[in-house]
Amino acid sequence: MVALHAPEPEPARATADMRPPDATFDPVFEPCAHCHQIGPGARSMTGPSLQGVIGRKAGTLAGYPFSAAMRASGATWDAATLDRFIAAPQALVPGTRMIFAGIDDPTRRQALVAFIARTNAAL
Ligand code: HEC
Repeated sequence: MVALHAPEPEPARATADMRPPDATFDPVFEPCAHCHQIGPGARSMTGPSLQGVIGRKAGTLAGYPFSAAMRASGATWDAATLDRFIAAPQALVPGTRMIFAGIDDPTRRQALVAFIARTNAAL
């Protein structure tokens, strides 16, 4: 017989693979998760992957189109620099394309930086 409907499309098998790593959904990472992924297999989205960011020179992750400001910042993402950036991104890297007001509470920043370091290390 003539098929009245087009066959159902293949279920998007890619979906499972496209899902960000679980660490991205950790509540402590919530302020960043709109734009960043973290954890094994994290990919760059609006923002660059933050997997392996600790110790990375700012603006150097291959394949991500950083702003000139970020590339020229000369920063290296150790815990202290990351803390300063999260507190006030535009203060540390004037002209960065990361549109984020900053986290005022030092306790929340510390927890977040510790989480990022832990997740980076758990490879
Ligand atoms: C609204 C989207 C957005 C949010 C929310 C956001 N970021 Fe970003 N982030 C970006 C973009 C875009 C860049 C690239 C900036 C540039 O090139 O100037 C970036 C860059 C960075 C970088 C530099 C990475 C590198 O390899 O040099 C770090 C570190 C970073 N973000 C951490 C964070 C953390 C931690 C949070 C959560 C507190 C956060 N970001 C929240 C969009 C965002």
